[in-house]
Amino acid sequence: MNEQGNKAAVKGHPRTGIKAIVFDLYGTLYDVHSVVQRCDAAYPGRGIDISTMWRQKQLEYTWLRSMMGQYISFEQATCDALVYTCNRLKLDLDETTSTVLCNAYLNLSPHPEVPAALQRLKDMGLPLAILSNGSVFSIDSVVKNSGLQEYFTQLLSVERIGVFKPDLRVYTLACEALGLAPHEILFVSSNAWDASGARYFGFDVCWVNRRDNTFDELGTAPSYVVRGLDEVPEIVSNT
Ligand code: 2OP
Repeated sequence: MNEQGNKAAVKGHPRTGIKAIVFDLYGTLYDVHSVVQRCDAAYPGRGIDISTMWRQKQLEYTWLRSMMGQYISFEQATCDALVYTCNRLKLDLDETTSTVLCNAYLNLSPHPEVPAALQRLKDMGLPLAILSNGSVFSIDSVVKNSGLQEYFTQLLSVERIGVFKPDLRVYTLACEALGLAPHEILFVSSNAWDASGARYFGFDVCWVNRRDNTFDELGTAPSYVVRGLDEVPEIVSNT
């Protein structure tokens, strides 16, 4: 059984206050299912099925590639996962449709509460960064296309080290870039597998559980659990 995520100080290190916040990108800041509409336009009535399988395969392909010691860009994993999904659902995928749908991943919508929450956190004087499995190009595209670039001091991609989260080496990128120790960083992710990796690494971790999901049984628990990013400023105020 998991330890319960709660608002108590994390065991194992003295509370020194949060000095920066690092966000996961896909699912946490941006709604990966904002591609449903485009999927529906290409394959009427199949949008949700496609989007759900596509996202799951996309993640699996990043993890499997890492385990095989291979690195491909997140865009490539995304396109490969779309091919699998269409094959599995017996849908024809031509080149134009593939391009349109893969491009939809560069134009994701932020979750509704995200812009205001980022503004509040920025107003609190904290550096905000993104650490994502996305490539430099895909992170830049998603952030710029949604107009949120002004909130972030750093956009950090796994591309530099060629391995995907939750490999613990990825999380060191944030410490190096921010010049902070793990426990000085609050890492925010809606992906339980990512929250688990980040917690093992030593970050203070906030799991964003918007859809009443169940946390993974990976032997660790988040330091905090919230229902949306709008609850994160309160965590910062209380540390
Ligand atoms: C990320 O942004 C894939 O959600 C994951 O790193």
